[in-house]
Order: sequence, then C-alpha cells, then structure tokens
Amino acid sequence: MKKAKNLLRGCVLVGLLWAALIRVAPADDSGKDVFEEQCAECHSVLKDKNKKGPSLFGVVGRKSGSVDGYEYSDAMKSANLVWTQEDLDQYLTYPRKMVPGTKMKYDGLEARNQRSALIQYLGNIK
Ligand code: HEC
Repeated sequence: MKKAKNLLRGCVLVGLLWAALIRVAPADDSGKDVFEEQCAECHSVLKDKNKKGPSLFGVVGRKSGSVDGYEYSDAMKSANLVWTQEDLDQYLTYPRKMVPGTKMKYDGLEARNQRSALIQYLGNIK
C-alpha cells in the first residue's frame, strides 16, 4: 500500500516538473526563434553590431534612434520615443504606422503571442 502511494507521489512530482518545463522552455525558445526568423536578417543582438538595422542589444528601455554609428532615417531620428515594451509592441505590429517614413522594410508581426515572446526575449538581452 505504502509503495503504491509513493509511486503515485513520484508520478505527480514528475508530472509537475514536466508541466513546469513545458511552460518555461518554449517561451524562451520561441522568442529567440521569432527573432531568428523575422529580425536576424537585419538585426543583431550583439552590442555595437549594426547590420542593415541597428543593434538591438538592450533595446527595451532605450531611446529611439540612439545607437552610435548607425545612420537612421530622418523619421527615426525625430521619432523621440523610448522603446518600452508597449511601444515596441505597437511598432512591431505595424512599423510604418507608428514611425511613418521609417526605413525599416518590415510589414509587421501580426501574431500577438509571437510579439510578446519576442519582446520578452529582447528584454533579457542587456
Ligand atoms: C529588412 C530589414 C529589417 C527587418 C527584417 C527588421 N528590421 Fe528593425 N530596423 C531595420 C532598419 C533599417 C531600421 C532603422 C530604421 C530607421 O532608421 O528608420 C530598424 C529599426 C528598428 C528598431 C528601432 C531601433 C532604434 O535604435 O531606435 C527596432 C526596435 C527594430 N528595428 C526592431 C526590429 C525587430 C524586433 C524586428 C523583427 C520582428 C525587425 N526590427 C525586423 C531593418 C529591419
């Protein structure tokens, strides 16, 4: 009887651990995956590494248009935003609507869960 109880406890424990893993792991991975799929062609998350677009190192909380050595469009230079999570969410949904005249040639990321995973991923890079 005792053995069966322990076995049951063991199963519950393994189940809980598994559930925790499933909840944590894909959230991280998918943010990185979204970045690789959607942004990495033009952006790096390495400090000072500019590609077609500016480095996104520490972008959450950063002032818009502020990476040294990157030539922004006039639109981005005068956008005068701080990239909070909310503003990033809005920008990434439809970049040209939020910053008309931006030279970021990207139509936007429609899926809200992808945007939030992506922004969470970017927020951890600092
Ligand atoms: C086709 C290239 C391209 C893609 C794809 C792209 N970007 Fe950009 N991004 C740019 C360029 C170019 C700029 C500079 C815009 C300007 O100066 O108007 C920029 C600017 C930005 C900025 C403003 C940075 C700052 O320093 O103010 C953010 C934030 C940003 N991109 C995030 C992203 C994210 C996140 C993705 C993926 C969902 C992405 N971009 C996809 C080219 C791209």
